[in-house]
Amino acid sequence: MSAFFGASFFYESPLTDLAFVGENVRYSETIISDVCRATDLVGLVSGYTKLTRNNDGSWTGLCPLHNEKTPSFRINTQKNVFHCFGCGKGGSPITFLMAANQLNFVDALKDLAERAGIELPSFSREEESQKANRAGILEVHRLAQDYFYANLRAKSGVAAYDYLRERGMSRQVLEDFGFGLAPDGWRGLLDHLKAKGFSESLLLEAGLIKRKENTDKYYDVFRNRVMIPVMDAGKKVVAFAGRVYGEGADPSAPKYINSPKTVVYEKGRLLYGLSQARVHIRSGEMAFIVEGYFDLIALVSAGVKPVVASMGTALTQPQVDLLRGLAKGVHLVFDGDSAGEKASKRALPLLYNAGLDGRVIRLPQAHDPDSFVRQFGPDAFYDLADKAMDIADFLFGSAMAMRSTTLSGQSRVISDVQEILSQIPDAAKGQHLRNQLADKLKISAELLTLSPIEANRSMFEGAERTNKNRLQEMDYNNLAAWFLQQVVTYPECRDFLTDDLLEFWPQDRTRAVLEGFLDQKKERGDIFPEEIRLEEDPAMSEVVSKALTDKRKYNSQDSRSMAKDLIKKISSLTAQKVNEDYTKAIKEAEANGDTETVLKLLAAKMG
Ligand code: UTP
Ligand code: MN
Repeated sequence: MSAFFGASFFYESPLTDLAFVGENVRYSETIISDVCRATDLVGLVSGYTKLTRNNDGSWTGLCPLHNEKTPSFRINTQKNVFHCFGCGKGGSPITFLMAANQLNFVDALKDLAERAGIELPSFSREEESQKANRAGILEVHRLAQDYFYANLRAKSGVAAYDYLRERGMSRQVLEDFGFGLAPDGWRGLLDHLKAKGFSESLLLEAGLIKRKENTDKYYDVFRNRVMIPVMDAGKKVVAFAGRVYGEGADPSAPKYINSPKTVVYEKGRLLYGLSQARVHIRSGEMAFIVEGYFDLIALVSAGVKPVVASMGTALTQPQVDLLRGLAKGVHLVFDGDSAGEKASKRALPLLYNAGLDGRVIRLPQAHDPDSFVRQFGPDAFYDLADKAMDIADFLFGSAMAMRSTTLSGQSRVISDVQEILSQIPDAAKGQHLRNQLADKLKISAELLTLSPIEANRSMFEGAERTNKNRLQEMDYNNLAAWFLQQVVTYPECRDFLTDDLLEFWPQDRTRAVLEGFLDQKKERGDIFPEEIRLEEDPAMSEVVSKALTDKRKYNSQDSRSMAKDLIKKISSLTAQKVNEDYTKAIKEAEANGDTETVLKLLAAKMG
């Protein structure tokens, strides 16, 4: 902690729990150590890694701050400090949270204080007023919720209530999720809250009313809609979604109106239904993630309870992180269309980063979770869940299919994957996934290591001289593969494809591809790499798919001179190799005293 403070100039204010360092206001050591003491470090860290207790009362586990195979992370519970003997990081619960969640000191402190139920003092009048404002916004949300809730249960709410019941919602679920109704008309909520003494400016800021343009008239944002309260982890209502219902609804009106971003609500940082689902998620160590409010409600009504909804937006890292420590894995439940596929792909790095296993439930075409569970029931849904595909497998579902088809298909898959993998900042986790995927695709993991841009940079950056240096370093067979990639990538290099190459071409797996290309060129005047079938030779698919994924960019002159250099190098290496073979054979024959063979070999070597 003292690293954060200049520990020497420290003046503790007698009035507040703030300390002043020079001109900057900081939290005092007292409150900081209170927060640390109130934090159960073992509990905190257990959200990130599995800890085991040692005989001396300390705890050990795999370090969650770096990747390792043998545990070198230790917690001393008496001192409430941790240290990793692998990466060298160590310190207080605050230090831990800063490193684990990439927070600054103050945010980590605030987070822990909140978890421990310790109220931190405010820094300034501004912060004080911000806090008051926050409280005001929460208060109007609470009152608005009461208002909507009562409206749904009043006589005038019968049509809306029937609508919800017809959609399969039980009375219990309507209670548990606090559904309500915004009545028709322009000022129901506005008048209600004004009568309670709230200002228009607060209601505006809460996103509950709007101002009519160029006037000082205000009106309700939510009108004639079924109201779905969005709650935070502490079951406080922080936002609303209003859905149109009933016959009389304006068909041009948006299906949902959602609360805007406010100081208490930011879309993408909350999961709908989490506070209700929490206990069910924890007990089963898994969560279902759906997109829509009604998808969630339908599942819960059918008895499938550990469900949260992303509220229509693509899943975000903060949302996924909310499940960390609560679940071991999640099942993504998407509609049976391709948008769901895309969403799963985007979710993969997020889940990986949070250390959650991901599975994907694909619903039959034209079904969403709501319609599925209502038509087939919860058992059928659980059956699908049992059969859910691992997200990595799912991601590669298309690749697996491609494997038996064409090169260009496979290369597309690889660049797709490269993009997804590049979003996993943790190198070791990314590598693990690469290995797994490479294994499935039967290609080398290296292919997935470099992004096309990196590959481009690392291999082709700079002048030709550099390329020539690189050429020297390249291994013989790689050169042959490179040449093939060259002709695939750069059509202008294809006139180098002649039978002459066969004379010195290495007897390796690249030879079959070369022969294939030569045949194609002879018969049809050009090569068609995407027609070279890969399934027979996975190793070969590596060569050619690499060619199709490396997005090198340099001009045609460079590409041709590169091809020429490659040919030269390959042929001279072959010559060298043949020479070496002869020399070796001659030496052997000499050692055996076989003069006749020595002479024959010498002649051949010269010839
Ligand atoms: P859906 O259209 O699947 O909505 O959109 P739904 O909740 O299943 O509603 P029903 O079944 O048609 O009644 C999925 C989610 O996308 C967001 C909502 O969060 C919704 O639950 N959404 C959709 C909006 O925010 N606004 C919209 O206009 C539509
Ligand atoms: Mn729906």
